[in-house]
Amino acid sequence: MKAHDLDLEKRSIEQFNTWAQDYDRKRFWSFYFSNRTVLQTINPESGSSILDVGCGTGILLQQLLQLNRRLDLHGVDIAPGMVKAAQMKLGKSVKIQRGSANSLPYDENSFDYVTCATSFHHYARPGNSLREMFRVLKPNGKLVILDPFTNGPIRKTLCVILDALSDEKGTNLFTQEQMYQMFHIAGFSHIVQKTYWYYKLLTIGVKAGEIGSILEKQNVFSA
Ligand SMILES: C[S@@+](CC[C@H](N)C(=O)[O-])C[C@H]1O[C@@H](n2cnc3c(N)ncnc32)[C@H](O)[C@@H]1O
Repeated sequence: MKAHDLDLEKRSIEQFNTWAQDYDRKRFWSFYFSNRTVLQTINPESGSSILDVGCGTGILLQQLLQLNRRLDLHGVDIAPGMVKAAQMKLGKSVKIQRGSANSLPYDENSFDYVTCATSFHHYARPGNSLREMFRVLKPNGKLVILDPFTNGPIRKTLCVILDALSDEKGTNLFTQEQMYQMFHIAGFSHIVQKTYWYYKLLTIGVKAGEIGSILEKQNVFSA
């Protein structure tokens, strides 16, 4: 990875290790409500396997657990402090490990769903992270990303303010059209987008069955 990519990862780890201590006390409710749109979108059938990338303290995973649908739940996060908080909260019912979205520690074709809630803009190499999410999804699996986006001056200003208020700085925020294009390039089809609470965008894509697998085997998505 390039030096400035490593810098962003390092800044993410530092910021979220610090935030982990009182993350739920200060931020639980805003994420709880926005995550509900992810839950409603995937509405997973009983027995599905789900990976939450950038799972933080496990707020979305806990909401999934509370559906009581015998889901096979996994979470991954780059900050050890967040991983520890999620493990303490959720115990052994959810498998959580440390890892980067840039190189997901899972085999290909592992999950029915991959979710990523308010985490994507932290990724140093977003295109590569999307290809990683594509790789670990099963054929016909679905990716759902919820993240702030930058269409129009008001949202752009909001994103500048959010970035300035964080210790991390230099996150990667995109327009709706850029998100669509990146999903497309990573190999996703049936791409659908919805605005949520004005400033967040939900982008959904499917790893189309056979064609997706053939392209993946031919390695056409590697950088
Ligand atoms: C704003 S929090 C959101 C956490 C959680 N998804 C939620 O809804 O509460 C962003 C999370 O992304 C994680 N993160 C940042 N960069 C990452 C990366 N490259 N790979 C995996 N996780 C990352 C951070 O450690 C942090 O826990």
